[in-house]
Amino acid sequence: MRFDVLTLFPEVIKDNLNYSIMKRAVDAGVIEINTINPRDYTLNKHKKVDDTPYGGGAGMVLMPQPYVDAYDAVKKLENSCTIMLTPQGETFNNIICAELANYKQLILICGHYEGFDERIREIIKPREVSIGDFVLTGGELPALCIIDSVSRRLEGTLGKIESMEEDSFSDGLLEYPQYTKPRDFRGYKVPDVLLNGNHKDIAKFRYQQKLERTKRRRPDLLK
Ligand code: ADE
Repeated sequence: MRFDVLTLFPEVIKDNLNYSIMKRAVDAGVIEINTINPRDYTLNKHKKVDDTPYGGGAGMVLMPQPYVDAYDAVKKLENSCTIMLTPQGETFNNIICAELANYKQLILICGHYEGFDERIREIIKPREVSIGDFVLTGGELPALCIIDSVSRRLEGTLGKIESMEEDSFSDGLLEYPQYTKPRDFRGYKVPDVLLNGNHKDIAKFRYQQKLERTKRRRPDLLK
């Protein structure tokens, strides 16, 4: 899958994909990340990409020209989806993540400062996605959340060891509690059922734990 990220801070994207599983996915060619900086497309002689809002008000607004021209310069593949990261978008979740994993290309548009000139939306017509009801200083971290969560669904990103079959949300429930060595840590013990090798009992225990945990922490998911 190819990710094209429009961002004024390409290093924030690139630096964060240089570790662990994401780096492996890049090295293995499962994903390809490309950044496009709207500042490189501005026709303004001072390389400005933002200006004060018409009508007044605090802060700055991202100008349409650098963003639309940068977007036009992105080579679009056939099965492609364009996403603008904004707190005004639909809230990202595992269902949207699975849907996005079906595309061959995601074009992610990151804002900064006070937001986008509305004509960027009108011309590009992106899908708008938020990662939650809070406001960040820019769209780079949300874009990385999408790149990471979508990439780990692609074949070849996770090894068998990191398999996603038992992740939280994969069956609509939160994950069961996990334990590893030692059996007794400061008097806190691993539940006996996990030590007796009876796979039926273990599966039953884990399912009960998932249900109970989801009921307690996220009753909205059980509905
Ligand atoms: N940009 C700023 N805040 C954001 C959020 N919560 N989600 C997506 N993009 C954003």
